[in-house]
Amino acid sequence: MTIVQTVKRSKLFYVTTPIFYVNAAPHIGHLYSASIADCVYRYEKLRNRSEKLLFSTGTDEHGSKIQQAAIAHDQNPMQYCNQISECYKTLFAKSGISYTHFNRTTDKKRHFPAVQHFWKELEAKDYIYKANYAGWYCVSDETFLTESQLKENEKKEKVSAESGHPVKWVEESNYMFRLSKLHGDIEHWIKSSQPIRPKKFEKVLMEYLKEPLQDISISRPIDRVSWAIPTPNDNTQTVYVWLDALCNYLQSAGYPDPKFKENWPPQLQVIGKDILKFHGIYWPAFLIAAGLEPPVRLLVHSHWTVDDQKMSKSKNNVIDPNIVAEKYTYEGLRYFLLREGVPHSDGNYSSSKATRIINAELVNTLGNLLSRICAPALNKRQVVPKCTRKELHDFNYSHKLMKKLKQLPSVYEEHFESYNFYLAIDEIVATLHLTNNLIQESEPWKLVKYPATEQKLEAVLALVFESLRINGILLQPIVPMKAQKILDKINVSPDRRSWKDTEYQLDVEHEERPLHSSTSKLIDRIK
Ligand code: ME8
Ligand code: MG
Repeated sequence: MTIVQTVKRSKLFYVTTPIFYVNAAPHIGHLYSASIADCVYRYEKLRNRSEKLLFSTGTDEHGSKIQQAAIAHDQNPMQYCNQISECYKTLFAKSGISYTHFNRTTDKKRHFPAVQHFWKELEAKDYIYKANYAGWYCVSDETFLTESQLKENEKKEKVSAESGHPVKWVEESNYMFRLSKLHGDIEHWIKSSQPIRPKKFEKVLMEYLKEPLQDISISRPIDRVSWAIPTPNDNTQTVYVWLDALCNYLQSAGYPDPKFKENWPPQLQVIGKDILKFHGIYWPAFLIAAGLEPPVRLLVHSHWTVDDQKMSKSKNNVIDPNIVAEKYTYEGLRYFLLREGVPHSDGNYSSSKATRIINAELVNTLGNLLSRICAPALNKRQVVPKCTRKELHDFNYSHKLMKKLKQLPSVYEEHFESYNFYLAIDEIVATLHLTNNLIQESEPWKLVKYPATEQKLEAVLALVFESLRINGILLQPIVPMKAQKILDKINVSPDRRSWKDTEYQLDVEHEERPLHSSTSKLIDRIK
């Protein structure tokens, strides 16, 4: 059998999302990062191979652009931060994002001490010095840029070559971090432990490393961002927002309590390609400087575009997940994002494509299949019947389906381990198509008419239910609430919904069980 194998249990699985800026309400790109992390987290739960699982997310609440947004909305910064942070929490609750930690960088009790402790560690190890700094600062990207990282836009203004966002010249007294000393360490980390997925983003990082790394400024004068975290021992300066934000990952692990090491390092950090430099260079550099292990893996995903254009407030084409979900449901949207998003290239969001996919796959292929075989017209006794194998011999599709079901978990596993969720979903959909083919071929609506074909009918139903059981278990990381509905309806006990239960079971004797009486639909057709 494919499933029964001795699984090496590890102590910890710790996954993170970026913490999101509270300068505007969440859009589908943010939800995408969180859905990927949640999908992996639930998959690890299903696998049951780690003793402890952590999943952290949150909001990044310091920085000039948040100040600007608060002013534009006539609110004080904290009011504004609270409001947008709450939008994230609500969206995540509705979308089944099952985080264990939600960090806010304005949390004075938990986040401030973590950041200040980390700063002191860097200082004690002589990685921090004071200097007068002059350079081009990009407020949107919260980063200083060198001349070679700039270009001129159509209006002849200086902008970041990478993001296209405007820069301005600033001269400040700053604390600097000796990034230049860590060039070799970062290169070694990337080459020896191969942390970057997909591989194409490793190349991007290696490009950055072709030139010597410059030291970076890690503080801002307090008058720039008044509510940011003061640097220890100097309250005229606040901690640079990226250093501040990155520390959230330590904080979830329990830092600065020394026991945090039990939860360190994260196994997987999900990020968008826009913040690769911060997570692939600055972050490991800060950690190595502090004597801590860098993350095991960075999963970098591409971006969502809308009608092939970058989503942005100025283009007024930002897709609000809450509005979209009114039509597709939150899980319908989550399904679409995981189904259509590929890690290695940008995905294009279009409403007609989402409608088509959700109707074809969740409504027709899955939903109709379930309601069909649970309907009293075909399933008079309202049970998941026992299977009599010989009754299935005549049907071509029964052999194809049994074979597919036996292979499905290991193929799914392979795709999950390489973060190709869309391919795992492809396999599920293909299996459900075979299941529908079996129904077409066996014509149960005819079998139900005659007592002589009752056993045949029950054998077909049993195999179809078995397909729904296995697919239902495997859908849990992808559409958790719908998967639960399916498994509840076909009366799979909650303690029989884990990885080992994905093994095909009709070969062994099993008892008939009643269907659950609920009649609610899996999902309504989208118009
Ligand atoms: O960068 N498509 O926060 P942020 C897909 N606070 N994903 C997208 C996207 C799009 N069009 N736009 C954004 C920050 N994202 C920092 C992070 S972490 C210590 C600090 C996703 O609100 C993607 O994951 O700008 C991106 O990295 C993240 O949202 C950034 O969100
Ligand atoms: Mg951003």
